[in-house]
Amino acid sequence: MRRPPEDANHAVTLRAELRALLTASQAQNPLRGVDVAQSARAVVPETTNLPRDPETNQVLLRVAETTGSHGPVLDDATRERVDALIAERPVREALVDVGLQPSRSVLLSGPPGVGKTLTAAHIASQMKQTLLVVDLASVMSSYLGRTGRNLRSILDFATQNECVLFIDEFDALAKRREDDSDVGELKRLVNVLLLELDRWPAGSFLIAATNHKELLDSAISRRFDVLIELPLPAIGERKLLISSLPAIISTAVSDDTCGLMALATDGFSHSDIVRLCNGTARESIVRNGDLSSLEEDLVRLAVPKLRALAGEDAKIREKVAVAASVHLGLSNRKIANILGVSHPTVSRVISTFREREQ
Ligand SMILES: Nc1ncnc2c1ncn2[C@@H]1O[C@H](COP(=O)(O)OP(=O)(O)OP(=O)(O)O)[C@@H](O)[C@H]1O
Ligand SMILES: [Mg+2]
Repeated sequence: MRRPPEDANHAVTLRAELRALLTASQAQNPLRGVDVAQSARAVVPETTNLPRDPETNQVLLRVAETTGSHGPVLDDATRERVDALIAERPVREALVDVGLQPSRSVLLSGPPGVGKTLTAAHIASQMKQTLLVVDLASVMSSYLGRTGRNLRSILDFATQNECVLFIDEFDALAKRREDDSDVGELKRLVNVLLLELDRWPAGSFLIAATNHKELLDSAISRRFDVLIELPLPAIGERKLLISSLPAIISTAVSDDTCGLMALATDGFSHSDIVRLCNGTARESIVRNGDLSSLEEDLVRLAVPKLRALAGEDAKIREKVAVAASVHLGLSNRKIANILGVSHPTVSRVISTFREREQ
């Protein structure tokens, strides 16, 4: 395939741009903590009694805001499994009455930024339960035995007060017992967890999340009623995610451009995509005072990335050529240069598109 001479430079620039955008824009934390004292009466009556570390007096749990959080974008199979969990909640007494154990716990696993925390917030909000988030930094202690004791008071609290308990970075607590480091303490933690998971009541719901399921003690993974693995988003989810971002909606970015960005972000996590698009929107506002250049900026971002793929796939080639012509107003010759195809090929692709549009 013929490449334009500046191809290598373009690739380097694009990578640098992506990196800069990703670092510049902060990921939104779906579990924005709320001040416990302020929200206490509204959410959990006993929040004043939230468990604390006896030595440091630090609160071991925090109440997280779930209202107004957007549901995660999930593939159909994962969505069905999450919905099935939520659907059991209102009928759990009926399940118990006929001798069926309702699901009480789920382990969410998957790479960073695919929505484990967001899904936990969504489950709690759909179950209409207070979401209590374990503050691992306060729970983990270098003092022998204290982490286990803290964990036990958290689990006691969560079983006595109807809630959704969320333990993020679960692997920090439930590592395989054969792990060499700190064997005694880990064994104790794993044993506490095993015991508590076995006697977890139907009233409360436990959600644990990990990026490293393979590190977990297998006896613990087995104790969860449901295991859900969240994958990186496929093209359909990427497009849905992009087209549902507020900046994209408010500027009515075209379906085609959302599609181009979806194509260009293959292998990205949901979080990376959100940061990239929001970072681009932020730059547009900084530069122009509004989002007027967002669509063009997105196309500029996506096209160079796609030209590498375009050489291999005729459909992608057509999409890229049309977007570059319609949204960037590039000449057919320039587009041909970008895509590394002949000028007549681009003219043909674009006139076919225009005929179809009329
Ligand atoms: N499935 C998703 N649907 C919509 N947005 C998502 C999804 N996953 C991630 N995001 C975006 O990325 C941000 C971070 O996601 P989240 O913290 O839920 O990911 P995570 O899997 O818990 O990541 P980590 O492993 O780093 O804790 C969210 O606030 C949201 O903006
Ligand atoms: Mg998370």
